[in-house]
Amino acid sequence: MTALELFDKKQKAQRITTSSKNLDNLLGGGIETQAMTEFIGEYGTGKSQICMQLCITAQQPPEQGGLGGKILFIDTEGTFSPQRINEISKLRGLDPKKILENIIYARCYNSDHQLLIVDRAYKVVEEEKIKLIIVDSLISHFRGEYVGREMLSERQQKLNQHVHKLLRLAELYNCAVIITNQIQSNPQAFFGDPNRPAGGNIVAHASTHRLYIRKGKANTRVIHVIDSPYLPEAEARFAITQMGIEDVEEK
Ligand SMILES: Nc1ncnc2c1ncn2[C@@H]1O[C@H](COP(=O)(O)OP(=O)(O)OP(=O)(O)O)[C@@H](O)[C@H]1O
Ligand SMILES: [Mg+2]
Repeated sequence: MTALELFDKKQKAQRITTSSKNLDNLLGGGIETQAMTEFIGEYGTGKSQICMQLCITAQQPPEQGGLGGKILFIDTEGTFSPQRINEISKLRGLDPKKILENIIYARCYNSDHQLLIVDRAYKVVEEEKIKLIIVDSLISHFRGEYVGREMLSERQQKLNQHVHKLLRLAELYNCAVIITNQIQSNPQAFFGDPNRPAGGNIVAHASTHRLYIRKGKANTRVIHVIDSPYLPEAEARFAITQMGIEDVEEK
């Protein structure tokens, strides 16, 4: 294609609201299509909560910050909660049944299964008009199955295929891809932060935007852009409440 064609294609990128204005601003207007956004954080920082919130907002019409599309949720840890979707939808005055019906859920049991699901996803995304694909979490099966240094290169090769297939889906169907990632501690690191996102360079390079979440006071969270081609390295705060993801109330 010419650069002009590429320009036109990129112009078609759309955004999904996270339902927190501060977080949307940090992201330049919300979660972007034709891109892969990675949420990194320790357990309980709200990665899955953000994913579930986005399952709801992505379905809303564009005037309400959504894309009016369906969601493909690839759950590798079994933590997706339809009850939570039901709760947030109700509290936001939406019909939970409709919301739940528009989420295509795939429970994934091992890394090969995960790769297979993404192969099959091409058909599903096209037929069901999926606008958001979520993989929560990207790496848990890979980490559990490929243990030790001698398996590292094989793991990274598989992971590489996986993330590139996801990116291809995002570009081909103008949909947003979200992955969640865990923190890996490196006890050998004497200098600097010993905690790093899992998945190494493969995941780091494939993700368009990388966001690091840490816990703040009470139910607040601080989220930081750690890598992005054009977002500034800034921070925002949001809260996790019964209603899902919200802005922090300033006193
Ligand atoms: N109904 C609710 N109302 C308010 N806060 C909630 C509710 N449900 C969950 N939370 C908050 O979300 C947190 C869990 O977040 P979440 O499961 O998204 O973490 P995570 O980053 O996905 O962790 P993990 O790495 O273990 O998957 C809880 O500790 C709680 O603070
Ligand atoms: Mg989770």
